[in-house]
Amino acid sequence: MDLKKVAIAAVTTAFVLSASVAMAKSVTDPRAPASAKGEANPVSVDAESVSFGEELYQDLGCGGCHGDAGTGDGAGAAGMDPAPRDFTDGSWQKARADGELKYTIFNGSDGTGMIPNEAMFDEPEDVWHVVNYLRSLGH
Ligand code: HEC
Repeated sequence: MDLKKVAIAAVTTAFVLSASVAMAKSVTDPRAPASAKGEANPVSVDAESVSFGEELYQDLGCGGCHGDAGTGDGAGAAGMDPAPRDFTDGSWQKARADGELKYTIFNGSDGTGMIPNEAMFDEPEDVWHVVNYLRSLGH
């Protein structure tokens, strides 16, 4: 490789690196449109809702990526970028409204391994039990 090619390669590498840094979203950056924040959770949090939510979480295969305990380290998480969310992350929990969780569960997160899951729910309203379960992991 002559010097000119080395220089071009270096500039290209620097550009690609800075572009990927600029594009990388932090875990707390919104994934859902702002309007999703306004959708209130109609299901109150109690032990029954949380345990039904956990059952759905396991049955729907969320743990395959997010891990059985929701810590983001399921078998499917290896090499995934961005990584599946760790639901025990307190700063992430604080940054989100329940309506945003529902939105992402139903619609996925564009350009990531988080695919839309709305069709998997027999009863769409059951998503709120899953939201209540995910919230229970935050404390
Ligand atoms: C194939 C792997 C995979 C499966 C299966 C999966 N997820 Fe995810 N999930 C991801 C990834 C990757 C992200 C991170 C996306 C991002 O950072 O934008 C994510 C992010 C999320 C988030 C966070 C969105 C936010 O606002 O930050 C929630 C909530 C979530 N998943 C819930 C679920 C639930 C509930 C299920 C099961 C119905 C599920 N996921 C199944 C890979 C998966």
